[in-house]
Amino acid sequence: MAGTIVIGAQFGDEGKGKVTDFYSDKADLVVRYQGGNNAGHTVVVAGKTLKFHLLPSGVVQGKRILIGAGVVLDPRVLKKEISDIGSKGMDLGIDPRTHIIMPWHNLLDEGREELRTTKKIGTTKRGIGPCYADKAERIGIRFEELVEEKRLQQRIREVFPVKKAILEKVYNIKVPFGENEVFDEYNALGKEFRKYLCDVSLEVCEALENRKEVVFEGAQGTFLDNDFGTYPYVTSSHPISGGVTTGVGMPAAKINRIIGIVKAYTTRVGFGPFPTELTDETGEHLTQKGNEFGTTTGRKRRVGWLDLPMLRTSMRFNGFTELAITKLDVLSGLKKVKVCHSYTVNAKEIKYFPYSNKGLEKAVPNYREFEGFEITGKEKKYSELAKNARAYLEYIEKEIGCPIKLVSVGAGREDTILKQ
Ligand code: GDP
Ligand code: IMO
Ligand code: MG
Repeated sequence: MAGTIVIGAQFGDEGKGKVTDFYSDKADLVVRYQGGNNAGHTVVVAGKTLKFHLLPSGVVQGKRILIGAGVVLDPRVLKKEISDIGSKGMDLGIDPRTHIIMPWHNLLDEGREELRTTKKIGTTKRGIGPCYADKAERIGIRFEELVEEKRLQQRIREVFPVKKAILEKVYNIKVPFGENEVFDEYNALGKEFRKYLCDVSLEVCEALENRKEVVFEGAQGTFLDNDFGTYPYVTSSHPISGGVTTGVGMPAAKINRIIGIVKAYTTRVGFGPFPTELTDETGEHLTQKGNEFGTTTGRKRRVGWLDLPMLRTSMRFNGFTELAITKLDVLSGLKKVKVCHSYTVNAKEIKYFPYSNKGLEKAVPNYREFEGFEITGKEKKYSELAKNARAYLEYIEKEIGCPIKLVSVGAGREDTILKQ
């Protein structure tokens, strides 16, 4: 039995796509279990860049890929991703319980953001929040309904007039499509995708019983978790490791490996607290060298130093069994590299992330400074990394209390160093 979860330890975009691809070579199944096409996961193989929003990154290694019940699925995006990858050899299963993003969800997402006078979240406008809200409200449309004409028609008939009224009367947004139009398009998509219907919970649990390897690819990051992130500046699902059990329908005890993906510094897209944010020339170095522009929306990512109070808290929420540090090469060339080791809040030193944004506003980061280092891109072994780079990594390891097993020094699959 071997279930491995790949988790974003920070605010997303840590390199989950790259690490999932790397560890998918030995996997039998690669599974997405939360979030939707708000995610943007990049895999670079033989100089070719592939970006996925919905399909698990394991598709690159030709593995069977599954979309679990906890995902919200936009069928238009699925159609495009399948066509981009070419369906040749693609082996996909979708859980019947998966909720469907309907075109009104995108409009509601935009409308809600427009109406927020303060506390705009800066969502990806992919309809994620409104779709999860419908699920919680028990009026969502599930994949099992999308693929059955009569049931789909009945559900659209029930839901469409309500959504149209809300959009037009509350949000003042003219709905540019009619009920029949939506039915025709989504019924056609449902017919096309019917072949992917699969009880993902059953398939995953049987695979694990039969000692198969399953990689669970998390989306977003720990501090975007709906409960444990910097609420309300969060997403609507559960990116922390616990999300895998409810997102797949499986017991936690079946997971034996939880990999925390940590970018060697911090980035964030959208609004919300960011104690170690840099807006100076060092920030500019990270933005440019790290090419820190969103994979999904193209927005410039905010950048800052690595934050250990955040990562210690991430360790507590997720129970990482190992860490993968990515984008170490981006720090190369800086004279000094800083790490926030604690905060001072009301004249008191604290080592964890405050539970509220109110606390975070008062948090002043305390930094430890490291000498800079160069990464040449030729390093293949951990021992070949510059001494100062190793000192930086070993400090992180010690402070978080979790071993680093992988260090990434470039976007390509080959730019990956395993640490014994
Ligand atoms: P994800 O959402 O966690 O999968 O991460 P994204 O794909 O959104 O963002 C990570 C970006 O960094 C992508 O463009 C990757 O190709 C790139 N990347 C991943 N690892 C490394 C690395 O070690 N070095 C560099 N320079 N780029 C990397
Ligand atoms: P991956 O999987 C980074 C952010 C958005 C916004 C907030 C809520 O590529 O790491 P949403 O559309 O989910 O309602 O937006 O969450 N966000 C991400 N930031 N990486 C992601 O995914 C993200 N998915 C959502 O920018 O601040
Ligand atoms: Mg991303």
